Amino acid sequence: MSTQPVNRGTILIVDDTPANLRVLVDYLPQQGFKVLVARSGEQALEQVRHAHPDLILLDVVMPGLDGFETCRRLKADPRTREIPIIFMTALSDTSDKIRGFEAGAVDYVLKPFKHEEILARVTTHLTLRQLQATLRETNDHLEQRVIERTAELERVLEEVEDLKNRLQAENVYLQEEIRLEHHNFREIVGSSPALLKVLEQVETVARSNSTVLVLGETGTGKELIARAIHDRSRRRDRPLVKVNCTAIAGGLVESELFGHVKGAFTGAVNRRVGRFELADGGTIFLDEIGELPPEAQVKLLRVLQEREFEPVGSSKTYQVDVRVVAATNRDLDAEVREGRFRSDLYYRLNVLPLELPPLRERLQDIAALVNFFLQRFSRDLGKEIRGVGRGTMDRLLSYHWPGNIRELKNLVERAAVLATGPILVFGDGAPLSPATTAKRTEEAEGRLIEASLERSAGVIEGPHGAAKMLGLNPNTLRSRMKRLGVKRTGRDPATK
Ligand SMILES: Nc1ncnc2c1ncn2[C@@H]1O[C@H](COP(=O)(O)OP(=O)(O)OP(=O)(O)O)[C@@H](O)[C@H]1O
Ligand SMILES: [Mg+2]
Repeated sequence: MSTQPVNRGTILIVDDTPANLRVLVDYLPQQGFKVLVARSGEQALEQVRHAHPDLILLDVVMPGLDGFETCRRLKADPRTREIPIIFMTALSDTSDKIRGFEAGAVDYVLKPFKHEEILARVTTHLTLRQLQATLRETNDHLEQRVIERTAELERVLEEVEDLKNRLQAENVYLQEEIRLEHHNFREIVGSSPALLKVLEQVETVARSNSTVLVLGETGTGKELIARAIHDRSRRRDRPLVKVNCTAIAGGLVESELFGHVKGAFTGAVNRRVGRFELADGGTIFLDEIGELPPEAQVKLLRVLQEREFEPVGSSKTYQVDVRVVAATNRDLDAEVREGRFRSDLYYRLNVLPLELPPLRERLQDIAALVNFFLQRFSRDLGKEIRGVGRGTMDRLLSYHWPGNIRELKNLVERAAVLATGPILVFGDGAPLSPATTAKRTEEAEGRLIEASLERSAGVIEGPHGAAKMLGLNPNTLRSRMKRLGVKRTGRDPATK
């Protein structure tokens, strides 16, 4: 009894004839099978519910439920459907065998039993069942793997799509930049102390990651300086992405800065990569920051504080490594005082302020700037223009340049286009013309001379004199002072 070999499976024998049962109950355990017994179809149905046999040997003729009906019910129940059923039949009647197969049996054995036959059939069907189970398991496993791999591939595909979008956006952006940049040279011309001081600051701030606020009147070169900071920083190989805060309409600010997902709102047909994402690893240049509408100021504040954002319509948070350079020609202090600019945003931006002096405070750069622009434009135009006439240079030096370097550049360009000889002259249409700007020019010039004299303590000539500061001949300065009625504040024995 205790010498049973390994369990080769559990077999339920369903038969109402004790003699039949005995044969099987004696024989099968010797072959290593565990045996359960039911004496009727009803009992068999009851028993399979808690004992889980691996195979059922089922008698055909029984009182109550006969073998066919029992088989049908076992096959109808999902919990027992998979158990192979072998009919035991005394009759060699073909129609019975057919009925048995129709009821769902896999095989039959004939009574009286032949041991070898029973063993062979039982073993075959148990092995088959085992193989089916293994196959199903392998299949399930494979299916699971396929599901996992598909999900993984979809994720990777999404990432690739994301990257592709970013690259495309970057590409489009850079192409736009190249087009816009066509007439904007990156060279910074000038050697006035005021400009050199700024350039020194540029070198220092470029090395840090801190936010820079570039201040200065219109046309003083704020954008040029912002680009110089980027170009001298360790981010130079990544893009500098410009956002013109005046150009973005209120409702679109968020999408412009942070992007949106496909379908985020009507008209959002595709995913859009925002400027902050585009600038990842590089620099974002927030130009005209003073014009940013109030609701956008709040949103910008968050990204400056947390360095993270969510695109419109997305719950995914993006982290970015972006250096911020902002610029404005407005007096932000005053904007804050008058409640038009958030003070918390102002403090966030005003970490490293960098102030660009107006051109009228660095008149000594004018000659170099004129030559620089003249060279570029005459080359572009294929003209040979050698320089400007002396009288013309005097006019340039005495003008107050409200539009600063941009105004000077435009003026040179226009004159170069119109030039017919080797010397550049400015026509009467130029804003320098006394007829159009005489009064404003004179006022500004007067103020400028006064300021220079104040700084030189009234000294006109010599290395620290006002004439040198203004880039003028001392005699020219004296005659101008007389014409404009400018009085000296200090003493200069050389002047009457
Ligand atoms: N020192 C300089 N050397 C050469 N070009 C300069 C210099 N400063 C400015 N420029 C040129 O003058 C033009 C105006 O400069 P920029 O656009 O940087 O000014 P801005 O301060 O940003 O003006 P705005 O406030 O109107 O936007 C540009 O074409 C720029 O290349
Ligand atoms: Mg600008």
